[in-house]
Amino acid sequence: MRVKSAATLVTFPQGEEAKIYNYLSKDVITCDAAAVNWLLAIQDWSTIDEIAARNIEFDAESIAGEIEQLVACGIFLEESSAAARREAEYTATWEFGPTAGIFHFGIMDNEFENVEFGVARQKERAKTNPSPKLIWRDDQPDVKLPLTSNEGVFSVMAQRRSRRNVTEQAISLRELGDCLYAGLGITGFIQTETAVLPLKMTPSGGARNPYEAYVWAQNVDGLARGIYHYSAADHALTRVNEVPNFPAQDLVQAQDWADPMPAIILLVAVLERTAWKYIEPNAYRVVLIEGGHIAQNMMLAATQNELTCCPTAALAHGRIADLLKLTALTHTPVYALTIGHPGPCLDTVYSVAEGVALSGISNIERGGNISRNNLR
Ligand SMILES: Cc1cc2nc3c(=O)[nH]c(=O)nc-3n(C[C@H](O)[C@H](O)[C@H](O)COP(=O)(O)O)c2cc1C
Repeated sequence: MRVKSAATLVTFPQGEEAKIYNYLSKDVITCDAAAVNWLLAIQDWSTIDEIAARNIEFDAESIAGEIEQLVACGIFLEESSAAARREAEYTATWEFGPTAGIFHFGIMDNEFENVEFGVARQKERAKTNPSPKLIWRDDQPDVKLPLTSNEGVFSVMAQRRSRRNVTEQAISLRELGDCLYAGLGITGFIQTETAVLPLKMTPSGGARNPYEAYVWAQNVDGLARGIYHYSAADHALTRVNEVPNFPAQDLVQAQDWADPMPAIILLVAVLERTAWKYIEPNAYRVVLIEGGHIAQNMMLAATQNELTCCPTAALAHGRIADLLKLTALTHTPVYALTIGHPGPCLDTVYSVAEGVALSGISNIERGGNISRNNLR
């Protein structure tokens, strides 16, 4: 057997000890600070005897035991193992570097706190540490802006709300198509020095357009239940899988309001499209920003059709990847949008005018009463 230390280790001092974290596998150990050196030194595939020969303070038997443990806790890799293959894929395809890698892999499939726990924590925290101001205002603005229009796109924007309760009514194929087109529709091409690049409904860093959309369709008129890939070039859907026998909430961290949604759009970043041109970690942030642009357009298209579209980034990344049959390390679910006909409004939402009176914020002149939650 040959082993080596993982290539994706970072260490943090912790008193006399050190934490060693494998950000690709999310394994972590605490060890003697002195051990860090010999442990990180084994960067090439080595046999136990070779490692023992380099570390004369250990005999082969005791080092074999150490290494077995380090393999078991993901800090060392065994040649030809699944972990070694994943690392090889990382080395070959992850171009944004460790800065983005620590974040990207570190947040994969993390567990989220449930709503009750989150509310309790906020209440507790507010007792000693009030929330930061959610609106920054200047005491004496220099220029008063003219009121904007309340019509056309402004009216749609103002009506958009994230609603989580929906009726049993199906959405139509056209409505679903509108949302997909609004987010990812191709509207032109541009000739650059290096290539002809697609231009879409939303802006994209370097016109690299890293996103693909998939649809969990379970109540769409004229569309058999299934998991589909949206081909923006053809404005068409291709079936890639069955709707599984687990509920939709299993894709979005147990948020049960997702279960009855007629459709859920899953946005998947194809990171190599952007990384092919930009390899700095900021390009990873660019990809995430673009997910927001696409989602916003989709939400506005839904609103225009009197549907509600609620975003969530609380994803079970691995489960979604399996469902969509994504296998590459760089093809990653980022964002989900649930779509349906809004049911009765369960939230307490005020118009701007009402909210101003209740929140103690005074004199907000823009907005009037157009921003009501209920779309119907
Ligand atoms: C990036 C992002 C992630 C979100 N994730 C969730 C989520 O996991 N669950 C949820 O119920 N709402 C989620 N939301 C929706 C917000 O709760 C919602 O936008 C917020 O309450 C404001 O309401 P509005 O969208 O109606 O303006 C998310 C919104 C954004 C922008």
